[in-house]
Amino acid sequence: MVLEKERFMQKSKITKEEAKDLLLEVRNKIDKLIEKFGNNFIHTCSQSGKYILADDFEWTKGFYTGILWYLYKFTGDKKYFEIADWQTNELLKKARLGHNGIQNHDAGFLYSLSSVAGYKVTGDSKYLEGARLAAKTLSERFIPNCGVIQAWGKMNEKNINSGRIIIDTWMNLPLLSYVGNLENNSNYQEIVRSHLEKSLKTLVRKDYTTYHTYYFDTNSGVSLYGKTHQGKNDESMWARGQSWGIYGLPLNYKYDQTKDSYLKVAKNLLDVFLNKLPSDLVCPWDFDFSDYKDVTKDAGTMPIVALGILELLKYDNVFTTEERKDYELIAHNLIRALIDNDYISFNNAFWEDGLVRHSVYSHNINCRGVNEFCLWGDYFYVEFLMKIYEEDEAISFW
Ligand code: GLY
Repeated sequence: MVLEKERFMQKSKITKEEAKDLLLEVRNKIDKLIEKFGNNFIHTCSQSGKYILADDFEWTKGFYTGILWYLYKFTGDKKYFEIADWQTNELLKKARLGHNGIQNHDAGFLYSLSSVAGYKVTGDSKYLEGARLAAKTLSERFIPNCGVIQAWGKMNEKNINSGRIIIDTWMNLPLLSYVGNLENNSNYQEIVRSHLEKSLKTLVRKDYTTYHTYYFDTNSGVSLYGKTHQGKNDESMWARGQSWGIYGLPLNYKYDQTKDSYLKVAKNLLDVFLNKLPSDLVCPWDFDFSDYKDVTKDAGTMPIVALGILELLKYDNVFTTEERKDYELIAHNLIRALIDNDYISFNNAFWEDGLVRHSVYSHNINCRGVNEFCLWGDYFYVEFLMKIYEEDEAISFW
């Protein structure tokens, strides 16, 4: 249950017209990125507010492509199509390299937002090749005797990441389910089901906070212990990890509507997240602080949570009739809190490149992208606006 709900309901919902105006602002910002970088991919997070060219193949490559597919859908302007098409094709080349191209579990972030997005926006099935190949590579990260997908590191060798699962994988599983349905491949569906069953039992603590990662013994298949990677400490609640759960679980329910537990857990993860939020409704990067006053924010996580609420609202077995109105308003208020409190960079802020200010990539590992723009924060903000603008016609790439 969400406590003190009035604090989340101070303002009205974002209207379709407002969403349109905000998307026009996004378009202007992205046009400047295009002037600067042409077709090219950009790096995961900004440096002093400026994006730079991508220098390597990270899990974040699909986010900019996803924004471009949405902008093409929003405007019909071929300029966005051409860049999205080029980037989707570059990602396809990586997918064709199998494990040499996609070296971790992030196939969904990469190919749902490029390959599946390209297909859903244009109807051209040639785009699905990347999704099919990426799903196959992802499925090969499944460790049968543990029943889970290993997130990082080479398979079939002992390393620090052997048998390690992470909560972020819940966002990658919809790709496997989508392709599983396309190819009538029940093996993919079984992998998803098994991974979710095992990871729900391990990553989610009794109080509905979450571990970022969890180890399994690859020999015996036994689950071992939770450990953080990007959180403050092993027992803390890393904000973005919790948000991957809040949005990831209902996205998986979409493909397997026998699993009410996905929705129940997501709702509990959401309530814990909301109840811990400070008064400005923008999360700290981790919740394990006695006082959030001087703790760095991670604003880029908030659109993920807001989208999780919209996804949960699609089903009538999550909220009571009374609650539905409240939670919908809460989702909008979370985004309004970003807009009204200067977390969104508009077109007149010509000195900076991104959309959602004060985001965090990794606070505790080399302090990467702290208080910067991060591509996923920008992407999920655009996804939220498109869903408000397009209402029932909105496309989900997941
Ligand atoms: N998936 C990695 C992250 O959320 O930073």
